[in-house]
Amino acid sequence: MITRCACIKGALSRLTSHSGFCRPFVTLRTTTISRRFITVHGLRSIQKQIFVPTVRGNVCLRIARFRGNVSNNAQQADKVTKVKLHRKDVIRLIGLAKSEKLVLIVAMGCLVISSAITMSVPFALGKILDMIFDKKGTHAETMEKLKEFSIILLGIFVLGGLTNYFRVYLFNSASLRIVKDLRSRVYRRMLLQETGWFDTKGTGELLNRLVNDTYMIGNSLSQNLSDGLRSTVMIVAGTSMMIYTSPSLSLVSTCVVPCVAGMAIVYGRYVRNITRNLLDKFANISKSVEERLGNIKTVKGFCKEQEESKAYEILLTDALNLGYKEVQARSLFFGLTGFSGNVIIISVLYYGGILVISDALSIGALTSFILYAGYSAISINGLSNFYTELNKGVGAAQRVWEILDRQYSIPLHTGFVPKTPPRGEIKFENILFSFPSREESIILNNFNLTLLPGETTAVVGRSGSGKTTISTLLLRLYDPLQGQVLLDGIDIKELNPIWLRSHIGAVNQVSVLTNQI
Ligand SMILES: Nc1ncnc2c1ncn2[C@@H]1O[C@H](COP(=O)(O)OP(=O)(O)O)[C@@H](O)[C@H]1O
Ligand SMILES: [Mg+2]
Repeated sequence: MITRCACIKGALSRLTSHSGFCRPFVTLRTTTISRRFITVHGLRSIQKQIFVPTVRGNVCLRIARFRGNVSNNAQQADKVTKVKLHRKDVIRLIGLAKSEKLVLIVAMGCLVISSAITMSVPFALGKILDMIFDKKGTHAETMEKLKEFSIILLGIFVLGGLTNYFRVYLFNSASLRIVKDLRSRVYRRMLLQETGWFDTKGTGELLNRLVNDTYMIGNSLSQNLSDGLRSTVMIVAGTSMMIYTSPSLSLVSTCVVPCVAGMAIVYGRYVRNITRNLLDKFANISKSVEERLGNIKTVKGFCKEQEESKAYEILLTDALNLGYKEVQARSLFFGLTGFSGNVIIISVLYYGGILVISDALSIGALTSFILYAGYSAISINGLSNFYTELNKGVGAAQRVWEILDRQYSIPLHTGFVPKTPPRGEIKFENILFSFPSREESIILNNFNLTLLPGETTAVVGRSGSGKTTISTLLLRLYDPLQGQVLLDGIDIKELNPIWLRSHIGAVNQVSVLTNQI
């Protein structure tokens, strides 16, 4: 063991002393050695493993670049970040729908009409029932009235169906356009960011922002806004109609409803919190799996298949336990709300029945009252859903704004554009460089190199010593921490990056071309 360690240390010092290239692991503090791996501890959450086969004295070093380990992800999953609803965030979120203002106003008009029509149903039903049970008029008169009333109602319902159609169509088509515009804005902005930013963000995370977050924003501005408004209209109309139908019965329900509704809301929030915990847990599991599957060669290279499967199993069991908790809370919630809803109906029926028996209320009025109470209760639930969805929308919007508002450090459209093509004298002067995603690992330290025009220069070095890094600095995909790269004596930071890159031909080790390039 000690011999191996010494051999590795020797190799490391040989590498670090090599012409200004600086190996990352010089900053590492402690190392422990297992049979085939050296596990390096001490760098924040990063655990790196260096594979060291000692074939004919050559030392080949490979680093597994997992950003965190399994236990880390599990810890993160327990931390639930709650999004606070700030007024300015909500206003900014709604501002995203500015381009669809007109369509949304028309859609809201349709919504008000269709909700009003829906809310006229209990009233009409009560009237019909009273008409049927009215013993004053003759049989033929009642029949005539019933027919007339039904035809008018049919006309109103046709209007209701039409406005409902337009409401759903307008809100949803607006949502499609909002999502499309947002996605194209976010993607444009993403592509403008400097390379270092992409290194610090996972591809999965960026894809998530581009696809899911934008969808959630569109949804909270259309479907959710529509449902929220509908619920509000229905609550206002429902309670007003309840008071109009029977003030004394309304008083009885106002005593019962708030207690039951309050309990349901508090418990509902508890259930939602657990659900959110569970979703976060699954998001972290997916992230962890994405990292492993994305680096499958590393996993296989280190023979970590079984260990990774076990770690995944542990995470799943963890989520399963939380899932049980959620299922338990959810079942209790449904049991309780069902029971309490029936309690409300019974108390209203009991007191309403007394009123009907004592002729203080007609049977039709009692029926419409119960229906209004039911509609209002459903709408209260709808409003609480609206709040949850709005929360999600704001959370998604904040993640998207982070991208839209981010100022990139290497702007593409600024800088000097020389009139003539470059001669091609390249100078790297006292370069100090580390990648933004791994600032602690210095890749180039006091690196100097001059490349003369017309000459072919080969840069030779061990794998991972920083050769490719030099070319990325020349393309200005990254800026050095110190020192400068000069093209014909001009610092490339002063040049327009598009002009600079269009004068450099580069073929990467792993060449991937998109169908546009
Ligand atoms: N985008 C990146 N983020 C963090 N570290 C990187 C990145 N690209 C390369 N590295 C690390 O920088 C070092 C130098 O890499 P590179 O220039 O590709 O080496 P070479 O081309 O000489 O094989 C390696 O340790 C590598 O792991
Ligand atoms: Mg390379």
